Amino acid sequence: MPIRVRKAVFPVGGLGTRFLPATKAMPKEMLPLVDKPLIHHAVEEARAAGIEEFIFVTGRGKSTIEDHFDQSYELEEQLSAKGKQDMLEALRAWLPTPGKVAYTRQQEPLGLGHAVWCARHLIGNEPFAVLLADDVFLGPSPCLKQMTDVFEGQSMVAVETIDDESISSYGVLKVAKQVRPSLVQVSGLVEKPRREEAPSNLAVVGRYILTPKVFEFLDRKQQGAGGEIQLTDALSWLAGLEPFYGVKIAGERFDCGSKSGYLRANIAFALERADLRDDLIEYLSNLSIERKRRVAAGGAGR
Ligand code: G1P
Repeated sequence: MPIRVRKAVFPVGGLGTRFLPATKAMPKEMLPLVDKPLIHHAVEEARAAGIEEFIFVTGRGKSTIEDHFDQSYELEEQLSAKGKQDMLEALRAWLPTPGKVAYTRQQEPLGLGHAVWCARHLIGNEPFAVLLADDVFLGPSPCLKQMTDVFEGQSMVAVETIDDESISSYGVLKVAKQVRPSLVQVSGLVEKPRREEAPSNLAVVGRYILTPKVFEFLDRKQQGAGGEIQLTDALSWLAGLEPFYGVKIAGERFDCGSKSGYLRANIAFALERADLRDDLIEYLSNLSIERKRRVAAGGAGR
């Protein structure tokens, strides 16, 4: 019987300082991409890949994420009273199945590896996915689905070719061999290497499928780059012991951990929407002329 990936971990404990003041009282994962929070997109992607159990590793100030994936009686009552049945059904349709969602807190911000380790008892002894909500994809099929489609029991990461200027912001693969055009076998990984020390241009982009063996390394709580317990270090150890793959993802990725990536993602996702597309295209096509005129006149002010 094929091995299925049934559980996914969503590390959502990070502070999101890059988006202050927007994220002062609101988790960065709740920033909307058009009209759905980033974390909602990640959960939808996981569901499209067959994930049945959703494990959030949260921290202080993240309770709106729990509220988001819970029933809202007041809202539902009001929608019902106003006869907004469509909205009501749409809201109910994506609520997680009772008992299939779990929250655990990362009490101290010790790193991504530590966040994943916090979910160890909820994972148990089976392969699991990890999704970082900052990375968002638009492609022929959802990113995690592209991975589960080729999954045969081994650990794997989603990868993208990154240019030299940006490579030091990522976990980077040491490639053992090219298996297929979109699949490489990995012999190790380096977290945020200096540009001249990067072992390749293939970088990890926020999606992982891991065997539970990874917890053996994470149990050691070894500090890596930046003094944090790095998931990448655990993966590098794992790649030395078990077959480990990098899947080149078809489609476009947006780094919603940066303001410019987040703005681009909003435009790209809005252009996918029949109710927004025409208006946005008109705005964007007029924008360049209008913008040039304003910049030439000394800027737009506020
Ligand atoms: C994290 C990981 C890194 C990975 C990146 C993808 O880094 O540590 O290996 O390449 O996500 O977005 P962060 O962006 O949290 O610094």
